[in-house]
Amino acid sequence: MTYRRNFLKRAGYTTISALLTTGFLQKDKQNENHSIDAAMANSISGNTPLRQLAAAKGKRYGTAISSDILLKEKDYANLIARECSIATPNGELKWNATEPQPGKFTFESADAIADFCRKHKMELHGHTLFWHMAKPDWVPYPPTLKMIERHVKGVMGHYRNSPVLKSWDIANEIIADNENETDNATYGLRRGVKPELIRDLFLFAASVDSSKKFYLNDFGIEGATWKSDRFLKMIEYLKNKGVKIDGAGIQSHLWFSTAYAFDEKGFKSVLKRLNDLEVKPVITELDIIIDTPLPDSIKKLDQMVADSYKRYLDLCFAAKVDTVITWGISDRHTWIRHPDWIPGKTFRDNPQLHRFLRPLPFDENMKPKLARNAIAQAFRQAVP
Ligand code: G3I
Repeated sequence: MTYRRNFLKRAGYTTISALLTTGFLQKDKQNENHSIDAAMANSISGNTPLRQLAAAKGKRYGTAISSDILLKEKDYANLIARECSIATPNGELKWNATEPQPGKFTFESADAIADFCRKHKMELHGHTLFWHMAKPDWVPYPPTLKMIERHVKGVMGHYRNSPVLKSWDIANEIIADNENETDNATYGLRRGVKPELIRDLFLFAASVDSSKKFYLNDFGIEGATWKSDRFLKMIEYLKNKGVKIDGAGIQSHLWFSTAYAFDEKGFKSVLKRLNDLEVKPVITELDIIIDTPLPDSIKKLDQMVADSYKRYLDLCFAAKVDTVITWGISDRHTWIRHPDWIPGKTFRDNPQLHRFLRPLPFDENMKPKLARNAIAQAFRQAVP
């Protein structure tokens, strides 16, 4: 039996939705072991927490986490504590949350997450110091260097001695969605952003706290695209300037479908170029949407999501990726179902299709899905 499943683009959460990654999963003799079927799912993983399976291979598994849900929903907190060895705040470390007024910093909600991590022996990944979204109205884009310095000093300084926070997305999504949205052909930066500003941001961050890992984080780089090429050039630029940059955050908001091909070769070349640059690839925001045409049952959809996870993680682990963070843990809270963020015109126009948005490893009742087993199996099969 030969059939194709897979992946494509990326959620359109900016006003102009960007087509990002393309690729395919082909279930045939050559790569049959990437898929996960129900029988196999039942026989693997059992009750072993993902964090334990990951740790056995020197890796970490985690999720984006929201402080308000943590307080309200015990099953959510329990599941994260059980399954995860790393977390990243969904919004609590963004500029609008940490410095809502100029120079007035608040860390209550981010600290609640840091405390939870400490209690449950989890690492915290800091997201993010610089982004064109989730910023207060008084902050322009790009912010002035003075604003950046005060912000970086305030936020990084607060976590300088944190026992759990070990890494930062120093800058998030600085590469434009396409060549029409940049005034910088070489690096493809969002309009108004100069490479020197990003260099200075990283340099300043290093002067505040160089003990943490520094990442440049972006989406749409999971294949050989205009965007991934600019992203890699920007990393190369930072390295050439002698700037500390340890990791590339590959967000991995992925779309798979029967209609598109996954650019496996292109993604491998991205991973190889990162390796050549001595910058570690880190999977920072993984979730998977199955694009139309949709299968005729949720069971089949969950199978497709699981197969997609498995195939993608097999590629990542072959390139020695050691950190996988999904953007949420259960479909109950996925950003993809939030009315503001429903992705793609087809889903936006057809509310009856929203039940097919099942991008995460656990379902609405915090029960493991096939995707959870696929992640478990990928960790089990990974070469340490
Ligand atoms: O907390 C308020 C709540 O009080 C209010 O009732 C509700 C009304 O809609 O809004 C809630 O805040 C929302 C917040 O998420 C928490 O759910 C904001 O409106 C909403 O804009 C915010 O969106 C987040 C977005 O980043 C902007 O910060 C998404 O949850 C979050 O998933 C998304 O995360 C981004 C990453 O940072 C970067 N990569 C892409 C990823 C997905 O867009």
